[in-house]
Amino acid sequence: MEKPEKLIVDGKRLDGRAPDELRPLKIEVGILERANGSAYVELGANKVLAAVYGPREMHPRHHQQPDTAVLRCRYNMAPFSVEERKRPGPDRRSVEISKVTREALEQVVFLKLYPRSVIDVFIEVLQADAGTRTAGITAAAVALADAGVPMRDIVSSIAVGKVDGTIVLDLTNDEDQWGTTDMPIAMVPRKKLITLLQMDGHFTGEEFKQALDLAFKGCEQIYDAQRQALREKYAIKRGNKK
Ligand code: CDP
Repeated sequence: MEKPEKLIVDGKRLDGRAPDELRPLKIEVGILERANGSAYVELGANKVLAAVYGPREMHPRHHQQPDTAVLRCRYNMAPFSVEERKRPGPDRRSVEISKVTREALEQVVFLKLYPRSVIDVFIEVLQADAGTRTAGITAAAVALADAGVPMRDIVSSIAVGKVDGTIVLDLTNDEDQWGTTDMPIAMVPRKKLITLLQMDGHFTGEEFKQALDLAFKGCEQIYDAQRQALREKYAIKRGNKK
């Protein structure tokens, strides 16, 4: 798309949202039979799958840690997920995102319970429209819970940014591309513990505070949706057993 003259008109963004509004969010739990835990997240046009295996014995063995499990995360974008076909396989971007995803999640997982083990988290982006790393973390946190991995709490993630001088929640690809700032964040909302903060662009000190505040509000909504999705799955399961 060509750069539009304005990204915000009469207080509304190009897709009709208010600056502090999330895109439509859908979370499904346990959709893959062969993974120990899984989740599917749609956030606007983003479609992201997360699958968790483990805890299980770490292979190759020389990667085993004697006193802890290792959280191994792989973020991958499907070739058909973006407008210009993405070359299959890892690249600099996916290696970076895999790393920050691991760092965002490992703070809440009780890894010390499983020495010599690995917990594998696979994130597959099927369709991308900015915010895929945050949607991936949101999906992975739910998939870890679905796998029964002991965790302190759930991590929720969203991006905030600045578009036409306005602080906005949950940027689309057009806003990411034509806006001035993109700041993906992950956190444990109940503790206000931030586990990921990246920034592309600039904020003044005041804007940063405003953006952080908006990210907290967005993550609280995501946290509620994550817990609701988990409740739905496990309530149905209990019901079936009767
Ligand atoms: O997806 P996220 O916002 O976490 O990461 P990004 O590197 O800021 O990428 C923003 C968006 O650019 C992606 O979500 C895709 O929509 C798009 N993109 C693309 O079209 N082709 C790529 N090879 C990588 C990203």
